[in-house]
Amino acid sequence: MTRTTSQLIADRTRLMGPNVSTFYDEPVHFVKGEGVWLWDADGRKYLDCYNNVPHVGHCNPRVVDAICRQASTLNTHTRYLHDGILDYIERLTGTMDASLDTAILTCTGSEANDIALRMAEAVTGKRGIIATDATYHGNTSLVSQLSKSNVPTVGFGLGQYFRFVDAPDSYRRPDPDGTGFAAKVAAQIDSLEQDGTGFAALVVCPYFLNEGFPDNPDGWLKPVADAVRKAGGMLICDEVQSGFGRTGTHLWAHEKMGVVPDIMVLGKPMANGHPVGGVVANRDIVKAFRSGYRYFNTFGGNPVSCAAAMAVLEEIETQNLVANANTVGDHARSRLTALAAKHEVIGDVRGSGLIFGAELVTDRTTKAPASDLTDRIINEMRHRGIIHSKLGRHKNTLKIRPPMPFSIENADLLFDTLDDVLTKANK
Ligand SMILES: Cc1ncc(COP(=O)(O)O)c(C=O)c1O
Repeated sequence: MTRTTSQLIADRTRLMGPNVSTFYDEPVHFVKGEGVWLWDADGRKYLDCYNNVPHVGHCNPRVVDAICRQASTLNTHTRYLHDGILDYIERLTGTMDASLDTAILTCTGSEANDIALRMAEAVTGKRGIIATDATYHGNTSLVSQLSKSNVPTVGFGLGQYFRFVDAPDSYRRPDPDGTGFAAKVAAQIDSLEQDGTGFAALVVCPYFLNEGFPDNPDGWLKPVADAVRKAGGMLICDEVQSGFGRTGTHLWAHEKMGVVPDIMVLGKPMANGHPVGGVVANRDIVKAFRSGYRYFNTFGGNPVSCAAAMAVLEEIETQNLVANANTVGDHARSRLTALAAKHEVIGDVRGSGLIFGAELVTDRTTKAPASDLTDRIINEMRHRGIIHSKLGRHKNTLKIRPPMPFSIENADLLFDTLDDVLTKANK
């Protein structure tokens, strides 16, 4: 059955229920993707400047081929012996600090964060978890408590174990060496210890992508990591968005931020759209978890998923995609900085590698967020064939996070269009 756009919208509500979100005032119906390009049902071509799941490009031939080959050979689960999962974990952990030597594969980042929280409980014997107040880490009953904006009126009473600290904001509340953030976390640790909950872990995305990717300098997480360790807790780095070379300077953003996490969480780009997530930790931590909880995941780590994930690692390496992210990211930042000199509405330019964007404000002195304008800009860009989004506490930060093969020419098309859209929006 082929539906028109309005039928698709109506049938989504009829068949999927209310509050199923879509992007844009006029949702897009994509039917095809290739590299950094997408096509809608009318054959219109769009430049994808947003999607990080097709990390090595939409329908990447190496990944498609790996999936097809393994799917036409065998697909079972991890209760049977299989080389694929071992080869993959060995290669993945081989890119990390030696302490991160053991992994559990899942199907989503939410499941992986759920395991990470339970690992912290198994190791510390405590349940108190700290996160920032503008983040998102997933949707299980436990993990959804980490999103302050989500904290529901229901939730099995789990909310009592969670505490929040102000998300870092390099534009409005500079904290150039991270000691301010560390002090806030230390205060919450004390509060958890005093009320008898005890402190188990701090969970952060090392580059704070959901929070609006503040311009924290390299090494910024060191003070907070010290505070966490001093209190006997665990540092969980959720690299679901920041990992696999996104920031351009390192394969893993925690390296950029100067720390080695106790537990690392992976997802989204891991298998280019095939559903794969994972938790990586030291084998003693994994042992404590596996002794405390019986854990089996029917689909996690299946041979097809491992083949897809392995192909992503190979593609990142053979195509030098981390270096590409660095080069194109530098170019993007300089184009954005030039746009900021021209457009008063751009209050701040941020990013590293292929996560970059700008915060839009109505007044550079008060830094009042231009949230409505930001919304209009991303909708207009969509009509011009450029796909990106917005995020941050005030939803006024342009979020640009394209597939990793994004080129300088692609960036120029994006910024030439943005320049024109900003010029017209201000007339
Ligand atoms: C940082 C971060 N962690 C975890 C998740 C959850 O991943 P998933 O949707 O695969 O469960 C997300 C999803 O947006 C995320 O941004």
